[in-house]
Amino acid sequence: MIFGPDFHRDPYPVYRRLRDEAPCHHEPALGLYALSRYEDVLAALRQPTVFSSAARAVASSAAGAGPYRGADTVSPERETAAEGPARSLLFLDPPEHQVLRQAVSRGFTPQAVLRLEPAVRDIAAGLADRIPDRGGGEFVTEFAAPLAIAVILRLLGVPEADRARVSELLSASALSGAEAELRSYWLGLSALLRDREDAGEGDGEDRGVVAALVRPDAGLRDADVAAGPAVRAPLTDEQVAAFCALVGQAGTESVAMALSNALVLFGRHHDQWRTLCARPDAIPAAFEEVLRYWAPTQHQGRTLTAAVRLHGRLLPAGAHVLLLTGSAGRDERAYPDPDVFDIGRFHPDRRPSTALGFGLGAHFCLGAALARLQARVALRELTRRFPRYRTDEERTVRSEVMNGFGHSRVPFST
Ligand code: HEM
Repeated sequence: MIFGPDFHRDPYPVYRRLRDEAPCHHEPALGLYALSRYEDVLAALRQPTVFSSAARAVASSAAGAGPYRGADTVSPERETAAEGPARSLLFLDPPEHQVLRQAVSRGFTPQAVLRLEPAVRDIAAGLADRIPDRGGGEFVTEFAAPLAIAVILRLLGVPEADRARVSELLSASALSGAEAELRSYWLGLSALLRDREDAGEGDGEDRGVVAALVRPDAGLRDADVAAGPAVRAPLTDEQVAAFCALVGQAGTESVAMALSNALVLFGRHHDQWRTLCARPDAIPAAFEEVLRYWAPTQHQGRTLTAAVRLHGRLLPAGAHVLLLTGSAGRDERAYPDPDVFDIGRFHPDRRPSTALGFGLGAHFCLGAALARLQARVALRELTRRFPRYRTDEERTVRSEVMNGFGHSRVPFST
């Protein structure tokens, strides 16, 4: 039922059937169970030691090229991150997960993210300014992807001179060779920034998160100390490289997909786009609705460390479980009229006040504040310039990312 030929193109009819007929669905051919209702996905995300991410990595490697591996995998980088000497955050469970997460969280405090706002605005405005001359363009390659990549390079502290090459590698990471070159680049960046920090040459204003990881005590501001977690030991170059690889992928692909989804959805719902043009303060809640309606990350894979009973079924320890967050966002048990795209849906006083697009609990997206900032700034720049844009859906191409929902090409006219 899931991962059939039509599933990737439009998973939502399948999700509805699963929620109604088989909320804890077993797919023997893929060797997994799938949870599709909001309440079940929420409950599973809240139990990270039972619904384990670390066991998932082990199971995933043991499964070789089996179907489960394909079903749970976003791209080869995630495989490397799961198996390499320094495991990525995504494949650790508490308490080990918490230690690494605290170490890397300092670069992602609300204050640290807000400091990036002027840079994000400059990048977004610069990209958007190039578009009107030609009366439109291709949104993903000309705006969404370069914006997401440029922001991540800033965040990580990639030196100006390296940005063009690293940006090329990040855009081409599916091509052979790019992944290996990127990995050695991240290792080198860690060593370079460590040397710079040791020599006292780190730039306090613009250090980037990697510099903070290799020298957690340097350049601390009072606000960081007050807001951020306790200072930890420096990470090794291997750990830093694994973190950069994770952020280089998780922080670019998903943002580009979310923005591409926004452009297609607002192209279909022009009345709501006009509302955003007139009321920019409505943009943040509108972006939450984009994430709910078409979640860029459609599911999270987990492996059970203990048997669990759900909807009359006993799931054994070791079972692979997909948490279908894409389906949870369309669950009529949680959201009225879930198939209606409505930017007025999310309100701080209403429950749920957001969707599960950024996950929840221990693994809640580390970059959520940054992604929200990018979306707010990008949509503001776009509403300012293109109040009457149109997408060309005939030529729009869905992204191939296995567990994702996004677009790789969105031609549009202004
Ligand atoms: C709209 C954009 C984004 C979406 C939809 C998204 C979605 C997600 C989701 C669903 C998870 C949880 C995975 C799980 O539970 O297994 C996650 C984790 C993560 N995301 Fe994002 N993400 C986005 C942007 C970003 C950005 C911009 C960054 C970095 C700058 C980032 C970095 C991470 C990291 C490091 C994790 C792992 C956290 C952990 O395991 O503790 N993401 N993201």
